[in-house]
Amino acid sequence: MSVAVIQGGSGGLGLALTRHVLAHTSLKVYALTHRSTTDLQDKILQDAPGNIAERLSVIGDVDVREERGLENAAKTIKEREGAKSVRLVACLAGILHPEKSLSGVTAQESLDQFAINSVGHLLTYKHLAPLIPNRKDMAQLGESWWEEGDPARGLVGKKKSLCFSLSARVGSITDNEKGGWYSYRASKAALNQVIRTLDHELSNKSSSAIAVGYHPGTVLTSFTRPVIGDKQEDLGKGILGVDTAIHRMAEVMAKATSVEGYGGKCWDWKGERVEW
Ligand SMILES: NC(=O)c1ccc[n+]([C@@H]2O[C@H](COP(=O)([O-])OP(=O)(O)OC[C@H]3O[C@@H](n4cnc5c(N)ncnc54)[C@H](OP(=O)(O)O)[C@@H]3O)[C@@H](O)[C@H]2O)c1
Repeated sequence: MSVAVIQGGSGGLGLALTRHVLAHTSLKVYALTHRSTTDLQDKILQDAPGNIAERLSVIGDVDVREERGLENAAKTIKEREGAKSVRLVACLAGILHPEKSLSGVTAQESLDQFAINSVGHLLTYKHLAPLIPNRKDMAQLGESWWEEGDPARGLVGKKKSLCFSLSARVGSITDNEKGGWYSYRASKAALNQVIRTLDHELSNKSSSAIAVGYHPGTVLTSFTRPVIGDKQEDLGKGILGVDTAIHRMAEVMAKATSVEGYGGKCWDWKGERVEW
């Protein structure tokens, strides 16, 4: 059985992505959260068909600022599912302290954003990317899917695996026309560099995975509410409800892993490249 790891499974997008992967693939899903697991399992399984629960595991206390939780999660997945079982690592970790100007910057809040938004993704891949099959392993795995089909069901292309990070358009230096949000912008720009560098390492090591950064649009979650208030979905303005955002995200994941040239770059919810 192949595995999807969703780091940040309790967030607005993380919860919806976890539910989507369970509903639309036959992958086993490991939802990692830095919170406790008590309510998360129930939230994920709300209104879901009974047999889906068998494919879900929730691992709590995985704070991306500390390696210990990530190390334990990787060990658990390896012991239960095997050394080369992971097809998707989706990394959702992100916090925002929206500084309007220099006077709003504090060292601690700035460092917190780098610790979670950039280094947190780097450490997640450090511990989980080694569980992704290489290209040769994938060819063998493919033979075993001959009868049942690929458990990723097209969410991840048949011959590939995926390291997928939630970045943001504001991390683009080219796109920075307005300023503001120093630390969040800089931490997402640093994340983009992590993605580019990871993609090179994956390729050099003949991994089946590519690394991709993703801008989901302005999605109506608790993350954006303090900044944009209560708004309705408006695709013309790039404002997406969570269901639409996940649908678009899944389309980009599928395309990125079935068409050449997507690795080591950042893409948006329309499937368009976000320039560095
Ligand atoms: N919403 C938007 O419009 C938008 C736009 C551009 C980019 N993004 C990016 O998309 C991602 C998800 O955003 P969202 O809207 O779903 O926000 P959210 O609901 O606030 O979720 C925040 C995410 O960060 C994780 N997280 C926070 N602190 C963590 C820590 N110390 N260790 C591990 N994980 C931690 C949470 O996971 P757990 O609580 O489960 O651990 C959760 O998945 C973020 O990276 C954000 O920057 C969002």
